Amino acid sequence: MGKRVLVIGQGGREHALIWKLKQSPGIDKLYAAPGNPGIAALAECIDIKAEQVEQLLLWAKQNDIDFTVVGPEIPLMEGIVDQFAAAGLRIFGPSAAAAQLEGSKIFAKNLFKKYRIPTARFEVFNDLKEARAYAYELMQKGKPVVIKADGLAAGKGVVIANAWQEADQALKSMMEDKSFGAAGERVIIEEFLSGEEVSFFAVSDGKDFVPLIAAQDHKQVFDDDKGPNTGGMGSYVKPPVFTGALEAEVIEKIIKPVIAAMQAEGCSYKGVLYAGLMITDEGPKVLEFNARFGDPETQVVMPMIKGDLLPILEASVDGELKNCQAEIEAGNCVCVVLASGGYPGSYDKGQTIEGLENLADDTIVFHAGTSLNDGKLYTNGGRVLAVVCRGADIKAARDKVYSEIEKVKFAGMHYRTDIAGKALRRG
Ligand code: AMP
Ligand code: GLY
Repeated sequence: MGKRVLVIGQGGREHALIWKLKQSPGIDKLYAAPGNPGIAALAECIDIKAEQVEQLLLWAKQNDIDFTVVGPEIPLMEGIVDQFAAAGLRIFGPSAAAAQLEGSKIFAKNLFKKYRIPTARFEVFNDLKEARAYAYELMQKGKPVVIKADGLAAGKGVVIANAWQEADQALKSMMEDKSFGAAGERVIIEEFLSGEEVSFFAVSDGKDFVPLIAAQDHKQVFDDDKGPNTGGMGSYVKPPVFTGALEAEVIEKIIKPVIAAMQAEGCSYKGVLYAGLMITDEGPKVLEFNARFGDPETQVVMPMIKGDLLPILEASVDGELKNCQAEIEAGNCVCVVLASGGYPGSYDKGQTIEGLENLADDTIVFHAGTSLNDGKLYTNGGRVLAVVCRGADIKAARDKVYSEIEKVKFAGMHYRTDIAGKALRRG
């Protein structure tokens, strides 16, 4: 009999996971909690939020769910994997202890240091005066300084200070005014790394792993990486900066040692390893690890995985990845996010979305922030849709995405026009 699979989350990332799992022959029935209108076309949506771990567990037990996939980080930190596993349910993702790799930057940085995994030099502070003195000293070298709140801060806990005043203000805001609550009681001050950023994805079962693929996110809201940071405005796979030799180096110097380190520390890591890397002149260095798939990287990673995703996720849970492989499609894939007017600041909701019916059959649209009312689709979030196209190479995929986007409209819609631009410039 086919399996009953639950995916937790409601964004474009989860839509992409469900789109991929929908193609798994072993799955009989797909559920999403809470899902979104795009997901609802592929899976039955259950009205329980991703953070409501107890309700999710109860529902999964009552509904004979065979396998659960967790999209966002919050339920992982809350221990959803531990709770499901204790109840005898199979669930893909790290335990709460292992998810500290994302949840506590200090845990992660200390691990990198102890196991000699390449990362930016850093110091940890819980005293404002000492933190200020160290930041001041670092800035005398004429380089920016990077200040990070220890805990989760919804992507806003990192400040790159170019001037002393900015550094001073960031430290006071985190440590004195507690602008991120407890997440900012301890801070990391680290050296600034320059280079190109790459997101590399692998799946681990605690001891072995399967490499997936590398992608590049575009965090700033405007072209040429200008403007404030967002959840991610677009992505593409196989960034040219990430050569085969670099991938091999990242696997040897970063992925394998992190898996071994987590095992040695007594918190074996099962789930997705999302390495946020900076490709510096001195080689690849880790900026951070995330304990989940990336958003919007997943929207381009899923269409590039050949064959069935489910056996890889199951082998991670069962500790059987040793003989597993993920085959990657030829060509490329580009994703452009369509955002609401004003995003990442305050934005309108409820604008009518038009034109999706005119898109080519092979264009994929993942929903991030939409609502459905009387059969009509409306905007319902900052990031609204991700339009995704494949192509023989980056240029073909990108040209196709941008010509498809011209068919889609909603009031206030904006998007970056230079997704994958760095790749084409490298040429
Ligand atoms: P993190 O959450 O640690 O990945 O930081 C968020 C973003 O801040 C990263 O994606 C980088 O763009 C930037 N960043 C973090 N640490 C550094 C660093 N040491 N040097 C330069 N940029 C950094
Ligand atoms: N792409 C950024 C993130 O998922 O955190």
